[in-house]
Amino acid sequence: MPGLTESELAKFAAAQRSVGFVEDGMKLGLGTGSTAAWMVRCLAARARAEGLRLTCVPTSDRTAVQAKDLGLEVVSLDEAGWLDLTIDGADEIDPAMNLIKGGGGAHLREKVVAMASDRMIVIADPGKEVVQLGAFALPIEVLSFGLDSSVAQIARVLENAEVAARTTQVRMAGDAPFRTDEGNCIVDANLGAIGQPEALAHALNALPGVVETGLFLGVCDSVVIGHGDGRVDMIAAPGAAPETSRVDPAEAAHLPG
Ligand code: A5P
Repeated sequence: MPGLTESELAKFAAAQRSVGFVEDGMKLGLGTGSTAAWMVRCLAARARAEGLRLTCVPTSDRTAVQAKDLGLEVVSLDEAGWLDLTIDGADEIDPAMNLIKGGGGAHLREKVVAMASDRMIVIADPGKEVVQLGAFALPIEVLSFGLDSSVAQIARVLENAEVAARTTQVRMAGDAPFRTDEGNCIVDANLGAIGQPEALAHALNALPGVVETGLFLGVCDSVVIGHGDGRVDMIAAPGAAPETSRVDPAEAAHLPG
């Protein structure tokens, strides 16, 4: 497909397959990031073509704007209550379907929304699959109050953690710390490899300045991996054999948005 990279086509393929799990009347959580943005476009196209009545809860302000612009009904999580399905991207996916998320700075709302859903489907290109979490810097959302103190406390936790590296940096937006939709800051932790994700998540979450980490452990139910040629591998549960299907890459050019 002219104009779209292999990686974008892979994201489209995963997104297109994932909206096949949406049913009329569902309450949906909409993820954040470039793959989720494809999903919102695919979802809007399907809703329009089939007249689906959907109630959508976005995981970020930017996804909310996109979904509204494409004609989807957007409500708050509290208005929606419990959700049927959340579809979101990820930065890393391990064989147990544990994730690192938050590269786009939205992991706090993403986790709140995913945990309020019957089911979370993660969509990704093959580059997101890893044997062990940790090559992608772990985003840790922290209060802006006492930011330096939280960075120091995170460093102490990392000294005792089973990780391959231990450097951190405050995520910046120009000259100032990046702010999340919730007004918090993000510390990115370069860990190389994470030996005990549960223990690390527990220790980091015990720090009062830490709001939430980008470790999603036991949250994701199914993974959809797209490929640039339109092939899609659907893995229904951790350890399950992938079911392969195809979507038409040419359809990417006809999506709204
Ligand atoms: C947003 O904060 C993240 O959790 C994204 O879901 C994740 O970074 C994946 O983004 P891409 O689909 O853009 O790679």
